Amino acid sequence: MKVTVFGVGYVGLVQASVLADVGHEVCCVDVDQDKVDRLNQGLIPIYEPGLEPMVRHNHDAGRLTFTTDAAAGVHHGKVQFIAVGTPPDEDGSADLQYVLAVADTIARHMDSPKVVVDKSTVPVGTADKVRQRIASVLKERGADVAFQVVSNPEFLKEGAAVADCMRPDRIVIGSDDEVAIEVMRELYEPFNRQQERTVIMDVRSAELTKYAANCMLATKISFMNEMANLAEKLGADIEAVRRGIGSDPRIGYHFIYPGCGYGGSCFPKDVQALIRAADGIGHDAKILKAVEQVNDDQKTVLMRNIRRHFGDDLKGRTIALWGLAFKPNTDDMREAPSRVLLAALWEAGARVQAYDPEAMEETQRIFGHRDNLVLMGTKEAALKGADALVICTEWQAFRAPDFDFIQQELRQPVIFDGRNLYDPERLAKRGFHYYGIGRGLSINQE
Ligand SMILES: NC(=O)c1ccc[n+]([C@@H]2O[C@H](COP(=O)([O-])OP(=O)(O)OC[C@H]3O[C@@H](n4cnc5c(N)ncnc54)[C@H](O)[C@@H]3O)[C@@H](O)[C@H]2O)c1
Repeated sequence: MKVTVFGVGYVGLVQASVLADVGHEVCCVDVDQDKVDRLNQGLIPIYEPGLEPMVRHNHDAGRLTFTTDAAAGVHHGKVQFIAVGTPPDEDGSADLQYVLAVADTIARHMDSPKVVVDKSTVPVGTADKVRQRIASVLKERGADVAFQVVSNPEFLKEGAAVADCMRPDRIVIGSDDEVAIEVMRELYEPFNRQQERTVIMDVRSAELTKYAANCMLATKISFMNEMANLAEKLGADIEAVRRGIGSDPRIGYHFIYPGCGYGGSCFPKDVQALIRAADGIGHDAKILKAVEQVNDDQKTVLMRNIRRHFGDDLKGRTIALWGLAFKPNTDDMREAPSRVLLAALWEAGARVQAYDPEAMEETQRIFGHRDNLVLMGTKEAALKGADALVICTEWQAFRAPDFDFIQQELRQPVIFDGRNLYDPERLAKRGFHYYGIGRGLSINQE
C-alpha cells in the first residue's frame, strides 16, 4: 500500500520504517529540511534501538523516502498519516496548529480519495476539526474528492519503539466508516498474523483511549511516589512494599517503580492536556491534577536529599550525575527530571560532571557550553573528584557499578539514587551514605 507520513519525529519515523519493513511504500514528509537531508544521507536524528538499520535497509530498497515536498507526499499515499507534534499550549492544552496545518496541506493538494489518519495524540474532537478543515479547503478549491478521517493513536514506548510498532499490544482504530476501516485493516494486516490486535471503535473513544492510557500509567507512577514518600517518613522500605503489592495480579509489577518523577514528551503533556480538556467542559479532573502535582514535587526529591546532606549552599561542590535522558534507551531529554535537578544544582552553586550513554549530544544542544556543566566521556570519568554521585536515569550500565572504584574516586562516599538501583544495607556496610527514594534506611542513617 502507498502510505504518506507527515512528521518524521519519534512516532512518524518509527511508524514509517516499520510499515516500509513489511512491504508498504512509505513517503515521509517533514518541514525540517535539515532532518530530511540527513535522513536521505542515512543519518538518523534520534536514538532508538534497532531504528537505524531498519531505516537504512528500507531507504536503500526504495520503500522509504524522505522529502519536504508536501504536494508529492499528498500525491503518493492513499493513506495520509498525521504524526506531527502536539506540544502544550500556554495553558497546557494540546496545541493543534501543526496537525491542522497538515490537514490544510493535504486538502490543498489531494486529487484522489484519501484516508487521513490522526496518529498524533490529539484531544477528543480533533478528527472532527481535521475533517472540517479538509472539507472547507476542498470547497474553496471547488474540488470534490472523497476522504475519511480516522483516529489511530500510537502507544509506542520510546526506548522500545521499533519493537512496540512491530508487535503492538493493540491497534486502536477509531472510525465509523466501513471503507476506511477496511483500508486500515489491510494496512495493519501484517501485524495481526499471530493474533488479532485491532480494536475498532468510534473516533472520539479512540482519541480518549490514548489519553486514558497515558494518564493511567502516570497515575501509577505518582501513586507509587506518594507511597514512597510515606514509606520514607514512616521508616518503611518502598521496595519491599513494591514487591509486596506487585505480586497481586490485579496490581502487577509494571509501572510501580518509585523514582525521581516521570518525564518525556508524553506523560506530562498528556496529563496536562486532559486536565485542560476536562476544565473546558466544566469537569474538575481531581485525580489527574493530583498526579501532576505529585510528579512536579517528585522531580525535586533528589535536590531535597542533596540539601539534607550538604546544606543549602553548594558553592565549591561538584556533583557527578549519571543519567540525563528522561528514561533509559533514549536520548530524549524532554521534561527529564535531570533538567530540574541541574537547574537546582546550578542555582545552589554546584558544578556538575555528567554522563549519559546516549543523551550527551542532546544535553549539549540544550545547555550549550557552560562552566558549571562538564560532559564526561564515561561514567567512571564523571566521578573523579566529585562530592557525591547522583543517579537520575536507570540505564542498564549503572546497575552494577564497581563500588570500590566509586568510593576511591569520590571525595565523599555519598550516593543519591533517584531510581533505587542499589541495596541500601549493602552500601551502608561499605561505608556509603546512601539516599534512595522511599527507603526508611536513608533516614535511619541520620
Ligand atoms: N514520542 C513518543 O513516545 C510518542 C508516543 C506516542 C504518541 N506520541 C504523539 O505523537 C505525536 C508526535 O510526537 P513525536 O515525539 O514524534 O514528535 P517530534 O517532535 O519528535 O516530531 C514531530 C515532527 O513533525 C514535524 N512537523 C511539524 N510540522 C509539520 C508539517 N506541517 N508537516 C510535516 N512535518 C511537520 C517536525 O519537524 C518534527 O520532525 C505527538 O502528538 C505525540 O504526543 C508520541
